Amino acid sequence: MVDDDHLTTRYIASAPGAKTGKRYHPQTREWWIVTGGQIRFEIEGQEPFVASQGWMVQVPPRTIYSLETIGDKPSLRYEVNIAHAQTLYPEDQKPPAFPRISWMPVKSARIPAPYDRGNKPYLIFDEVAANIEKAQVRGGNRFINDDRGVANIIYGYEKNLPPESPDEKGHWHPECAETWLIMAGQIKYKIEGQPVFVADKGDVVYAPRFMWHHATFAGPGPSCRLAMTGYPGITSLVNPWVVRAVRVGVSDYSCIGTHSEACLTILLLILQPATHMAIRSHSSIPWMLPTRDAGSFAYRMTARTASSGN
Ligand SMILES: [Fe+2]
Repeated sequence: MVDDDHLTTRYIASAPGAKTGKRYHPQTREWWIVTGGQIRFEIEGQEPFVASQGWMVQVPPRTIYSLETIGDKPSLRYEVNIAHAQTLYPEDQKPPAFPRISWMPVKSARIPAPYDRGNKPYLIFDEVAANIEKAQVRGGNRFINDDRGVANIIYGYEKNLPPESPDEKGHWHPECAETWLIMAGQIKYKIEGQPVFVADKGDVVYAPRFMWHHATFAGPGPSCRLAMTGYPGITSLVNPWVVRAVRVGVSDYSCIGTHSEACLTILLLILQPATHMAIRSHSSIPWMLPTRDAGSFAYRMTARTASSGN
């Protein structure tokens, strides 16, 4: 589904009894969202468990794991790997056969990476949603917290969002793309160059690096998207000419990673009615670079051309 410089994702359907034998990734974390059937996970250091629809499972680097579809129905899972992840197999596991590929035995001082920084072997979406509803908190939860990949659970209702300006374009990221798996309900997307569309549960949406995008809860709800990027604390760049006063503090902006947008809004409020020129001339504000004036627009287009791989 996604294959860029940061993440590689795919849907995998498996027949009952199908097994993914023991393996591990030497440097990278892997995660799955089970969307159908039942999958038994065996993860080194954890009690085996059976995951079903809505379970979000992750394995840290250097941790041996295996999967098996159990029951009498096929399973479906959405798999996410860090781009170019390598896979190694323990010596008691026969590796898969590929044409013109032979396997070389190697030795390694392997120490499984811990579940740290808030990462857990699994989260169950229904439990996460119930906790958000109970606490009536704004819907931000981090499922994956890794220097090379992040997944945020963003949950809420369209009815709780403030009115949206027709000029709203959202933001864009200078370092990596953003992709979403719709976990529940519907999410409305404005993505630069595309007609506005509504994505449903199970859909995958992708916005390349440098591309304006704006995601909002849609429909009666609840709505939830799993937002994935290649970095924690990803920088979001917004159009300073659109004043978003009403948006500060609402649930759609409470997720980790979009704080820069809220900060920018607050700053604009403080500076108002200072002129835009005054803000623009403040060279220490890095996010003034990508404004739509002619000079910086050229900068942005140059950068976009350089990233044609996305
Ligand atoms: Fe974004």
